[in-house]
Amino acid sequence: SVPSAASSDGFLDCLSAAIPKQLLYTQSSPSFTSVLVSSIRNPKFSTPGTVRPLCIVTPTNASHVQATVVCGRRHDVRIRVRSGGHDYEGLSYRSERPEVFAVVDMADFRSVRVDKAAATAWVDSGATIGELYYAIGKASKQLAFSAGLCPTIGVGGHFSGGGFGMLLRKYGAAIDSVLDATLVDANGRLLDRDSMGSDLFWAIRGGGSLSFGIVLSWKVKLVPVPATVTMFSVPKPVDQGAVDILTRWQDVAPALPEDLFIRVLVQKEVANFQSMFLGTCDALLPLMRSRFPELGMNRSHCKEMTWIQSVPYIYLGSSATVEDILNRTASTSSFNKATSDYVLQAIPKDAWTKIFAWLAMPNAGLMILDPYGAKISSFPEWVTPFPHRDGVLYNIQYMNFWSATTNGGGSNQARWLKDFYAFMEPYVSKNPRQAYVNYRDLDLGKNVIVGNVSSYQAGMVWGEKYYKGNFKRLAMVKGTVDPEDYFRNEQSIPPLVASQ
Ligand code: FDA
Repeated sequence: SVPSAASSDGFLDCLSAAIPKQLLYTQSSPSFTSVLVSSIRNPKFSTPGTVRPLCIVTPTNASHVQATVVCGRRHDVRIRVRSGGHDYEGLSYRSERPEVFAVVDMADFRSVRVDKAAATAWVDSGATIGELYYAIGKASKQLAFSAGLCPTIGVGGHFSGGGFGMLLRKYGAAIDSVLDATLVDANGRLLDRDSMGSDLFWAIRGGGSLSFGIVLSWKVKLVPVPATVTMFSVPKPVDQGAVDILTRWQDVAPALPEDLFIRVLVQKEVANFQSMFLGTCDALLPLMRSRFPELGMNRSHCKEMTWIQSVPYIYLGSSATVEDILNRTASTSSFNKATSDYVLQAIPKDAWTKIFAWLAMPNAGLMILDPYGAKISSFPEWVTPFPHRDGVLYNIQYMNFWSATTNGGGSNQARWLKDFYAFMEPYVSKNPRQAYVNYRDLDLGKNVIVGNVSSYQAGMVWGEKYYKGNFKRLAMVKGTVDPEDYFRNEQSIPPLVASQ
């Protein structure tokens, strides 16, 4: 139901009474637009046609979040929550359909508290992973955390979908190292691991995305890294054997020792092999010679550094400094669309030749291949909602870009992505065709509202792709903790109650 103007007014009055007014931005506030766009990554979601929130709340403590939920329930106004704003479909700050909703923007709720002796940290959802990495690097040169590459990603959204990067083979996804969390539920209660119970604590580690509540903070286990890590990047064009080397990479990369991670960025006619090794160049060279000689990697490719230096190096380039990972300003210059796949059996060589032909087409995008195996694959599928474990060789992310002035407004790029995704079907996981929820794609399916709750049947279409068999358990947890489906968006977990 769409709230009336009266309920919107009641909601705003309720909020004004409960939280300091400088933390509340209504559409008429002078800084409403600048706060709204502050973490929008994809400018296609900041157009005049985008459905905007009624107001934005920027909490600085738990009681502000609780009050927003209580006011929202009382006045029938829904809430979306934004941490870093990197959602590929913008679900943290926009609605596809006309809807009156408020945004809880966690950007000012972002402290990181590292306990070096215990090798743990409490990190608030509004911190970026760059801020988390920075605080860890300040505390110790030999501690790290296993999560994504882009430093401006928000902890809140990233952890709620899994979260993986260069350490995934050694230490799994971010959610595999979560020890505790605090959350505000649909009744406005503040819960921690003990009080939320094991089902809800299971659900928020990968099945999150607002469905179960607003996660305020996470306690994570930090992981040991050596004083020196070695980075390398070896680009191989098609005319220097990229097809053969990529075909080989599929078997090699997921089976390497866990200290060695080699991903591939495939764009136009080049496969760029990008790697992090937890150790020195001297230790890496014999390993590469024995396990992957086809790549032709040698000493001149090695760049030794500390783990914290590797963070800006990977994502921001070799001239970036460690301080640069604290920069929260998101670049919004390129419009984009992405989707994902999981590969369980190596793609044959002739198919790679065809894939390069797709990548050479006009309006083509790129592919990023992240190898699994070792730690991330070692957990049974049901241990966390993130189910992409044993048997996965690698994850594919497909992405295409355009700009405000591109002819066709991105329709040619979106068409290429859709057609290429259809072409890839025979080569990737089936029944379900798996996808990674953090690379959200609404073309995989959207919620349908039946009787004022999201339908479980309709949710299965996209839900089993992201969660496989865990989708049903997630829906049962949702049915217990938020049966009225207060926290919902186009791809939130629908409530499954016992009678269904
Ligand atoms: P945002 O704030 O948009 O939230 C995403 C979703 O989570 C929304 O549905 C939101 O409502 C919900 N949410 C946010 N905060 C919440 C909270 N506190 N409680 C409950 N729900 C909450 N992924 C990866 O695994 N490895 C990588 O290397 C990268 N790299 C990368 C680069 C770039 C440029 C982008 C744009 C994205 C990635 N990602 C990624 C994907 C990223 O992990 C994913 O988009 C995360 O959901 C982003 O989290 P944010 O908090 O930034 O997003």
